[in-house]
Amino acid sequence: MAIAFPNTIQLRQMTSADIPQLLQIEAEIRRSPWQSETFQKEIDNPLCRAVVITVIEAVVGYGLSWLVGDECQIHYLAVGKHKRGQGFGELLLFDALDYARHQGAQWATLEVRDSNLPARTLYEKYRFKIVGRRDSYYQDTGEDALLMNAFLGDPDYHQFMEEAAHDLQFKLSNEGKSP
Ligand SMILES: CC(C)(COP(=O)(O)OP(=O)(O)OC[C@H]1O[C@@H](n2cnc3c(N)ncnc32)[C@H](O)[C@@H]1OP(=O)(O)O)[C@@H](O)C(=O)NCCC(=O)NCCS
Repeated sequence: MAIAFPNTIQLRQMTSADIPQLLQIEAEIRRSPWQSETFQKEIDNPLCRAVVITVIEAVVGYGLSWLVGDECQIHYLAVGKHKRGQGFGELLLFDALDYARHQGAQWATLEVRDSNLPARTLYEKYRFKIVGRRDSYYQDTGEDALLMNAFLGDPDYHQFMEEAAHDLQFKLSNEGKSP
């Protein structure tokens, strides 16, 4: 399902050359930022779909998801602090789910911090439901992880994604005017 967006915005595969920009965003948004080796491993992992979004060639967000059998595992999505609320996080999730569906995935799964309301709301928008909890899962804060699943094989999901693509395209049509 192709989404058209302004030509200043690109969604493309992550490469090693992106890593310096990814590390800058990591430093800005995470208590324990990933190091370059972690990104390189993901880029090299044949099961991983690793993408970046750029606006006028500057990386503004990135997404990592794994396809394991009929399951898409949403590993991580992130958008730089100053580019949030413009549809880029949703585009990363949409891309991972759309790609996985085309590869035959029936399920999408993920873990999210209990307190991460923006991410939880985004996942709920794409019909993820809470199916479990891992107590004290995150070492840095001792916070619980919520386990969430979405059933991509639901006959309604195709129609849902068509409508989501339409809305997202509209949302992105005003973005991408500045890096
Ligand atoms: C989660 C994250 C990727 C969302 O990115 P974003 O570009 O700001 O999100 P979008 O603008 O695409 O918003 C898409 C949807 O997410 C939800 N959302 C985004 N920000 C939200 C907020 N502050 N509060 C509540 N819901 C929010 C809404 O459902 C929104 O849809 P709507 O615009 O129709 O209401 C971003 O906040 C982020 O990078 N957070 C830090 C990293 C992280 O927590 N990643 C997830 C790890 S599991």
